[in-house]
Amino acid sequence: MTKPRLTIVADPDAAARQAADVIGNLIKHHPNACLILPTGRTPVGLYHELVVRYQAGCLDFSAIRTFNLDEWVGIPPSSPSSYGYFMDQHLFRKVNLRPENCHVPNGLAADLELECAAYEDQIQAAGGVDLALLGIGQNGHIGFNEPGTPVHTCTHVATVAPLTKSTNAYTFGESPVPDQALTIGIATILASRAIVLLATGADKAEILGRALQGPVSPEVPASILQQHPNVLVISDVAAASGLRAPESKESHPPHP
Ligand code: PGA
Repeated sequence: MTKPRLTIVADPDAAARQAADVIGNLIKHHPNACLILPTGRTPVGLYHELVVRYQAGCLDFSAIRTFNLDEWVGIPPSSPSSYGYFMDQHLFRKVNLRPENCHVPNGLAADLELECAAYEDQIQAAGGVDLALLGIGQNGHIGFNEPGTPVHTCTHVATVAPLTKSTNAYTFGESPVPDQALTIGIATILASRAIVLLATGADKAEILGRALQGPVSPEVPASILQQHPNVLVISDVAAASGLRAPESKESHPPHP
């Protein structure tokens, strides 16, 4: 099994540029590629970089298809707290992605289970995912696949973990953070042909170490990425500070 490849860069801006390079290369070779996209603090710089490159005429999103990883239940897309709103602000309205090619789960659906099944069907109908871009939560979640989520899950209704609620409270102001969200599942993420995990900041150091170098366990959902054959982790120095040196270096110390 190929281990995740790891690129360590100086800071979040360099991580954004590196991830934008990967996406640019994909679009060049697959102009109609299908992407899974994340929200959160981590990808903001990446989306900015993609917009800058689009405005410079270097990127064409006209045939690209996107599926967002997740959305809160009960929050309308008109709300600044919603992930649909986030995507409009940071990417969708700023590049030539076609609205009909951009998908965000509908957290207002009357039947959430049906919405999840339909979202999953849309991903399959798009021919599967060429590249899944992911962040990582401080508890190791990917999307809203919180600790304990079985690996076989497809798009589903998730219960948001207490830590996730507190780290996302800043987007809700005085309002309560929802208890539930819709999320693409671990099985669907793992079915992607390539995965890029972005991690920046010292608050991700401990969990990145556990995800990449600890045992594969549902308790650290991102650890399952160790079993995917094509994962690139782009980390800044701060987030990489919890990683152990490669075993080869540890077991063969240099001679004095
Ligand atoms: P963040 O969230 O980018 O805001 O740190 C990442 C995540 O929870 O997956």
